[in-house]
Amino acid sequence: MAVLVTGGSGYIGSHTCVELLNAGYDIVVVDNLHNSRVESLRRVREITGRAFKFYEVDLLDQEELDKVFLYNHIEAVIHFAGLKAVGESVHLPLWYYHNNITGTLNLCKVMQKYGVKRMVFSSSATVYGTSGQVPIPEDAPLQATNPYGRTKLMIEEILRDLHTSDPLWSIAILRYFNPIGSHESGRIGEDPNGIPSNLMPYITQVAVGRLKELQVFGSDYPTMDGTGVRDYIHAVDLAKGHLKALDKVMAESGVDAYNLGTGRGHSVLELVAAFERVTGRSVPYKFAARRAGDIAVCYADVSKAKRELGWAAEKGIEDMCIDGWRWQSSNPNGYQQEIEIAVK
Ligand code: NAD
Ligand code: UD1
Repeated sequence: MAVLVTGGSGYIGSHTCVELLNAGYDIVVVDNLHNSRVESLRRVREITGRAFKFYEVDLLDQEELDKVFLYNHIEAVIHFAGLKAVGESVHLPLWYYHNNITGTLNLCKVMQKYGVKRMVFSSSATVYGTSGQVPIPEDAPLQATNPYGRTKLMIEEILRDLHTSDPLWSIAILRYFNPIGSHESGRIGEDPNGIPSNLMPYITQVAVGRLKELQVFGSDYPTMDGTGVRDYIHAVDLAKGHLKALDKVMAESGVDAYNLGTGRGHSVLELVAAFERVTGRSVPYKFAARRAGDIAVCYADVSKAKRELGWAAEKGIEDMCIDGWRWQSSNPNGYQQEIEIAVK
């Protein structure tokens, strides 16, 4: 019996694979490597000392996906696979809808065929849109503001309809806030393609010298220092939340959404200051205009996850900065470096 991890070689997926293997689960990973490298899985194996199967399969290829279920005894699925860049989704909406939604439909169809009805799904705080209510509970009104967010919202609804049609399905929808940081080994981490659009990878790339300076988007928000406030959560805490959600879907049927965050907000300047303090590196920055679509403040009400999953984040922003920096400083070019060395 194994847990299938779709998108398992990506940032959150690879961290969750480590926690699953360390907890004694057998896993099977499926990823099309569109936004990740197989090197991350080699390192998952190195960290855990455990072997597992990897299939380079696209969820859009239902026939190949079917074979994964045919050849393995899958008992539950953690579904990370998807495209996640907000700006790109605005320019390429059809690709995002096709990849994220059709990919999920294919997965659900194959799961149904093989009688596998337990799923943990990666959703996002983006489904709360721009209401700005804080702390934001799971039953707040949902509203997406871009195609990426709409794929998450639509998939949440598809999964609810699936459960209505067959109450034996057991689905946990996890709405992540702002995942940052890396495994404490520094061997796996976030490895964005091109120039990062999110704050933490931008900070670490400035600190390591790949980028000149950070632009702080907005200095006039109604916050303690005028910069945007977010609920940053350590990738390892987030990964552990998936194991708790997995326990829940293994134990009982139903469909439920859970916020995974710390319940605390930190401003851009607070994160920069924490990073500089714990790493001793300076992060030059300048203020720039607000980024379109950004809200002032966003942090989670985390009481439901604590009550129903028995999960709470343990790490603070200093741990997130230390671990994020360990990954970036020992892998200045992400996973690419290792591959270049291997080729030489
Ligand atoms: P990631 O891009 O690092 O990982 C996603 C993985 O899915 C990649 O390895 C990619 O190659 C794979 N993939 C994409 N489409 C696929 C397909 N059709 N078939 C097979 N594999 C496919 O992203 P991540 O940060 O690890 O995010 C994981 C999930 O969590 C995503 O669904 C994302 O939308 C969601 N999420 C991420 C964040 C975040 O800030 N990182 C926040 C909220 C939600
Ligand atoms: C991003 C995603 C969102 C996702 C969320 C959680 C975008 C546009 N949105 O939101 O869909 O649900 O992560 O993972 O990618 N900032 C700067 N300079 C930068 C980058 C960011 O000042 O170079 C600021 C932003 O204005 C914001 C904060 O840093 O106040 C965090 O930004 P980011 O890391 O991009 O996350 P979100 O905007 O919260």
